[in-house]
Amino acid sequence: MSTKIPGEKSKAMLQRGIPLFRNGLRYSEECQKAARRGYRGNSQIIVDRAKGDFIWDLDGNRYIDFQNGWATNPVGNAHPEVISAVHEAHKRYGFHYDHPLRYELAEKLVEIMPGKALPRFSYEVSGTEAAESAIHLALCYTKRRYIITFSSAYHGEGLSTKLVSGYDGDKNRYLEAWTGGVIHAPYPYSDNIPAGMSEEQYVEYCLWYLDNHIPNSMVPRDNIAAILIEPGLAEGGNWIPSDSFLKGIRALCDKNDWLMIADEVLTGLGRTGKMWAVEHYDVVPDILVVGKNLSGGIEPCAGIAARDEILGDNPLSSSGSTFAGTPAGCAAGLKTLELYERYDLVENAARLGNIAAEIMQGWKQYDVVRQVRTNGLLMGVSFQSPVEDQKDWYFARAIRSRMLENGVWAISDQEVNIRMYPALNMDESALRDGLAKMEEAISFVDCHGQAVGDSPDWPTGT
Ligand SMILES: Cc1ncc(COP(=O)(O)O)c(C=O)c1O
Repeated sequence: MSTKIPGEKSKAMLQRGIPLFRNGLRYSEECQKAARRGYRGNSQIIVDRAKGDFIWDLDGNRYIDFQNGWATNPVGNAHPEVISAVHEAHKRYGFHYDHPLRYELAEKLVEIMPGKALPRFSYEVSGTEAAESAIHLALCYTKRRYIITFSSAYHGEGLSTKLVSGYDGDKNRYLEAWTGGVIHAPYPYSDNIPAGMSEEQYVEYCLWYLDNHIPNSMVPRDNIAAILIEPGLAEGGNWIPSDSFLKGIRALCDKNDWLMIADEVLTGLGRTGKMWAVEHYDVVPDILVVGKNLSGGIEPCAGIAARDEILGDNPLSSSGSTFAGTPAGCAAGLKTLELYERYDLVENAARLGNIAAEIMQGWKQYDVVRQVRTNGLLMGVSFQSPVEDQKDWYFARAIRSRMLENGVWAISDQEVNIRMYPALNMDESALRDGLAKMEEAISFVDCHGQAVGDSPDWPTGT
């Protein structure tokens, strides 16, 4: 690494955000000092250029990219073939709503849906809009009013997706009056398990809550439209649900005539080493939400797939804003799926995931590591303080800061976790190198504590 992180050029750029961006005012000098061991998830680095497995910041530092454009670059940064497909689409079509590429991509997508059981597709611009469209579709199709969702879930930044995301007191403040149709249920990830309960017992409790507590004490069974679930808590920390939980959800939906909506915006399209995360559980949802990976990290494209009777003729539900299914987005999607096929990228993700899992298992030896989890290339580590008077997330911050100094970029957005999303075609040596550098950071902080480093909090455009 050529400079301290952030280097002078990056710092100067970050300074420009203080009077400019949302929350710029929160980043006063005092705030920077107070956060000297921290960083804000995607700050400290301003990307100067990106290629394949790497990004470079404004000061010329190179990083192995586990951040992956917030898990949107399955074929690595700035893949030239995706870029040129997008460029051709721009030249040929400009922007129009109806064009052949939207038919071609939808045909390809329904072919790869789990069990080929979701033959209809509807385009959206972002994962947020796609999740909202799935919710609205479920309400309109079932003619019911409630959606069950989960604590720690993340479905986006729209108004309704904020409401169905896991309740975080501050984030959803002033939205209290809007939550009418949303029921939040516990998601059985290991950090949530009450003392004295095994994971299986807690899964049973969570399923009992869905099938008994909600219908008996909150909302009539026949007024619940759907359960909206991530088959892997993505933004919530890359937690991986048990087989019995996902299968249990499917069984409850069948029994109660509720729809199962799988939000695979982050877990889908090979991230977990299968095309869809639900395939690990042998479960087929009624509606599947897709985004991120779909367009190879180059141009927005998202959507939902659903069963014929749900999406085939439902005049009440409407969706698809102006830029849903742009020629460029569809061209990116088509080229990305072609690359998946050509290079067997889902298989490759499973292979790389196994390598990573084996390496990361060894990290349990460090006191600061609470849990290591992987499902293919959906990879997360949660950290804990080995001493009483320091918060767990300080350690995640310190380790992530040290990782930057070592030349590895991963996500830890004010949380106890560090999350990694390598590209599905990452070079094996880059993956190994990135993990080795991450282990050095863990071992360093494990040995020296979290009060090291000097990595202030800076605003960015987020
Ligand atoms: C599971 C899930 N759903 C929806 C979204 C929202 O997608 P977008 O940011 O493209 O709107 C995300 C984004 O991280 C996600 O992880």
